[in-house]
Amino acid sequence: MMHDSVPQHPVLVDQVAAAGQSHIFNFYASLSCTHQQHLDAQVAAVDWELITKLIRDVVLKPEPFNLPDKIEPAPYFPHTPSDAATHDLYSRARRRGITLLREGKIAAFVVAGGQGTRLGWPGPKGTFPATPIGKKPLFQCFVEYIRAMEARHHTTIPFYIMTSAINHAATVDFFKQNHYFSMSESQLMFFSQDMLPAIGFDGKVLLESPSSMALSPNGHGGSLLALQKSGALSDMRRRGVTQISYFQVDNPIVRCVDPLFIGLHDLHAADMSSKMLPKAFGKEKLGNFCLVDGKVRVIEYSDLPEELAEAREPGGLLKFRAGSIALHVISRSFVEQLNAHGFALPYHRAEKKVPHIDLDTGALANPPKANAVKMETFVFDALPLAQNSIIYETDRLDEFAPIKNAEGVDSPASAADIITRRNCQWLDEAGIAIPRRADGTPDAMIELGASFAIYPEDVFDKYSRVPTITPGAKLHLE
Ligand code: UTP
Repeated sequence: MMHDSVPQHPVLVDQVAAAGQSHIFNFYASLSCTHQQHLDAQVAAVDWELITKLIRDVVLKPEPFNLPDKIEPAPYFPHTPSDAATHDLYSRARRRGITLLREGKIAAFVVAGGQGTRLGWPGPKGTFPATPIGKKPLFQCFVEYIRAMEARHHTTIPFYIMTSAINHAATVDFFKQNHYFSMSESQLMFFSQDMLPAIGFDGKVLLESPSSMALSPNGHGGSLLALQKSGALSDMRRRGVTQISYFQVDNPIVRCVDPLFIGLHDLHAADMSSKMLPKAFGKEKLGNFCLVDGKVRVIEYSDLPEELAEAREPGGLLKFRAGSIALHVISRSFVEQLNAHGFALPYHRAEKKVPHIDLDTGALANPPKANAVKMETFVFDALPLAQNSIIYETDRLDEFAPIKNAEGVDSPASAADIITRRNCQWLDEAGIAIPRRADGTPDAMIELGASFAIYPEDVFDKYSRVPTITPGAKLHLE
C-alpha cells in the first residue's frame, strides 16, 4: 500500500516547513499508519513558532551568561528566631499557615517530569524505594506526609503531580496499582509538562527514529506553564486554592506543606517564596540566592565566580550562603500572571549528547560528544518577576535528603543515612537512648513514618510506643 509522504494536516505541514524542519517527514511514506499517527501527534504537540524563535535565539545565537554588575546576598528569615519580634512573627506565620490549610487554600505540587538519568532507576523517579527500612517509594512518602497534615488540621489538601510524556502513564498506573496510597482519587490530579525537540548545532530538529523526534521535557520551569495548560490552575480556582506548595520528586523527607513557611509567604503578600539551606562550603552545588536590582534571583553555582562563592563576612560565615533546594510557595495568581501574555520564563541552553538517526539512511548515530542543544526553563527564573518574595532558612537534617545519583553524594545510601540521623536526633530529644558507635554515629537504623511523627515534638507524645533500641537494631515505627 502507498502511504502518504506527509501528514494529512496541511496547517501542520506548513508550520513545520515554515520552521525549516520538513526533514522530520523524510521517512513518513515508509511508516506504518500507527507510526505515522505517532509522529503526527508529536508534531501537533510542538509550538513551532516558539521552536523557530528558540532556534534563532538560543541555538544559533547563544547569549553568554552575563553576571550582573552588582550582586548582593539575598536576605532571609533565620531558621530559629533570633529575637522576640521574629519569634512573634513566626508564631503568627504558623497560625496563618494553619488557617490557610484549614480553609483548603493550600495545594501540594510535585514536579516529577524529569528524566532521572543520574539515578538510572527503570521507572518514574517517584516510584523509587527511598526509605531505609520500609523501602517506601518517594510518592508514598509525599502522600503519607500530606495525609498526616490533613489529619492534624482536619482538612483536605489537593495534590497535583506533574509528569512528562516519558513517565506519565507509568506514574498514573503506579498510583492506581497502589490504590493511591489511600488518598482520595478526587484530590489528586496528574498532568504532563510539554516536551521540546533537541536541536542539532545546525538548527535542525533531531530524529531519534524515523517516526519520532528526539524529545525531552521542557525543564522544571515548564511546570508553571503546564499548570495553566493542563487546567490545573482552573481546578485550583474551583477548589478555592490560593497558594501552591512546590517541591521536587527526589527528597523523601521534604515537608510537602509547611505552615510556617506558607504563613511567612502569605503575611508578606509574596508572589513566590523559597526555602534555603546555608551552604556547607562555598562551591557547594546549590543555586545561590542573590539580590540583583532589589529582586531575588538564583545564580547557579557554576555561574557564581569563585571570589564571590568563597567570600566571607567578618564573622567567618560565607557571604553568599543561602543555597536553593527548590522548595517554593507560589501564589496561584502569580502563576496566572506568568501565563497571561504568553509564557514569561526564559529558555536556557544545555549542550548534550543526543543519539539520532541519519536523515538519509535512517542509521542510528551515538555521538561521542555533545551534538545538540536541549532547551529548558527553570522554575527559579520566576523569582525576579515576583513583586514580593521572601526566603526562609530550613534545617539540612530536618528536610533535605536528596536522591539524585545511584551512589555516593545525594544517593539512596546518603538519604537513608540522613533519615536515620534525623530520626535518632528526634528520639534523642525525647530522652530515648540511641546506641552509638565509637565515632558517635547511631548504631541502629530508624524509620519513622509520617503517621508516627512529622515533628520532633510528636515523639514525646508517643514515647511509650518506642521500644528499647539495641545496638544494630532496625526500628520502623508507624
Ligand atoms: P533534576 O535537575 O534532578 O533533573 O530535576 P532530573 O531530570 O530529574 O534528573 P537527571 O538530571 O536526569 O538525573 C529536579 C526536579 O525537577 C523535576 C524532576 O523530576 C525533579 O523533581 N523536573 C526536571 C521536571 O519535572 N521536569 C523537567 O523537565 C526537569
